[in-house]
Amino acid sequence: MATAAAHRTAAAAAHDAQDTAATTAYERAFDAAVAADDRIEPRDWMPDAYRATLVRQIAQHAHSEIIGMQPEANWITRAPSLRRKAILMAKVQDEAGHGLYLYSAAETLGTGRDELLDKLHSGRQKYSSIFNYPTLTWADVGAIGWLVDGAAITNQVPLCRCSYGPYARAMVRICKEESFHQRQGYELLLALSNGTPEQHAMAQDAVDRWWWPSLMMFGPPDDASQHSAQSMAWKIKRHSNDELRRRFVDICVPQAESLGLALPDPDLRWNEERGHHDFGAIDWTEFWEVLKGNGPCNEQRITQRRRAHDEGAWVREAAAAHAAKHNGGTQGARA
Ligand code: 3HC
Repeated sequence: MATAAAHRTAAAAAHDAQDTAATTAYERAFDAAVAADDRIEPRDWMPDAYRATLVRQIAQHAHSEIIGMQPEANWITRAPSLRRKAILMAKVQDEAGHGLYLYSAAETLGTGRDELLDKLHSGRQKYSSIFNYPTLTWADVGAIGWLVDGAAITNQVPLCRCSYGPYARAMVRICKEESFHQRQGYELLLALSNGTPEQHAMAQDAVDRWWWPSLMMFGPPDDASQHSAQSMAWKIKRHSNDELRRRFVDICVPQAESLGLALPDPDLRWNEERGHHDFGAIDWTEFWEVLKGNGPCNEQRITQRRRAHDEGAWVREAAAAHAAKHNGGTQGARA
């Protein structure tokens, strides 16, 4: 008995050693691929923590796209012309499409869409802080396009070079569409800024309200960013939160001048030595409060999202029935 048990222990140890050797070889291949700027693809071996980080970030990104439809959809019925309405509808539909590409990218990592939506609806996963602010006037649609989509592009263009292939490829198309979104917002604000004094004031008020929350979109400062160092080592993120925030401020300053609108920061000025603009202190207490669910619209956004999901149940059921009829029941429909 003792001999058989010892034999089994030795066999298990040998097996473990083999496993460890194989894992180490896989790890080396993964590290080499990341170092060489090769793409990691869904069937490649990857560390569990790399997979978990990607699912976390891609899910948060996907959730932001679909929750982001709400503040702007608020203005579709009140757009001031047919042209503006058609543009806004196209933009909101684009955001839904971005959500779909991103949920699909997350699925390649083995996490189903139902699970991710469930985590969003139950508050276990986040979406961008920016969408917890209200859209009070028509000018907010312009400010969102110029600032929010502008911040999103600044953050997302480097994600086209993310080490995970499906995420990087999804970002290429998303960035092209975000670029259109940013331009339509800029053009809308330009029209208002050059319009009547009331229209100019409305544009200025929107920029005053959206500027600081847009800077918060880039995430906490580097010394409070728990994931940045590891995500940058894995080449998921290519730049730190503060680096991208600085880049965004530098881009916006001349654009604001061309728009004839002021950025609401008395400390904003060019720093010759640093080659960047200095800017005032961000209210990080507000940011963390919004993340905790205490922003002006958190409750409204998640309630509306849950309702839309429930009301869409019949569409998912109908699509599943259609798929079953045409594919012999081998494929179901997705949320
Ligand atoms: N809103 C909500 N949560 C945020 C946030 C923000 N603006 N910034 C950071 N956080 C969260 C992080 O998710 C993390 O929480 P978690 O551990 O529960 O996930 C925590 O704050 C600490 O932040 P880190 O800096 O350590 O987190 P990351 O390294 O993940 O960096 C990020 C945050 C820069 C937002 C990064 O995740 C990222 O680049 N994500 C992809 C882009 C994205 O999600 N964009 C959403 C913007 S909106 C959009 O694209 C829609 C478009 O139509 C405008």
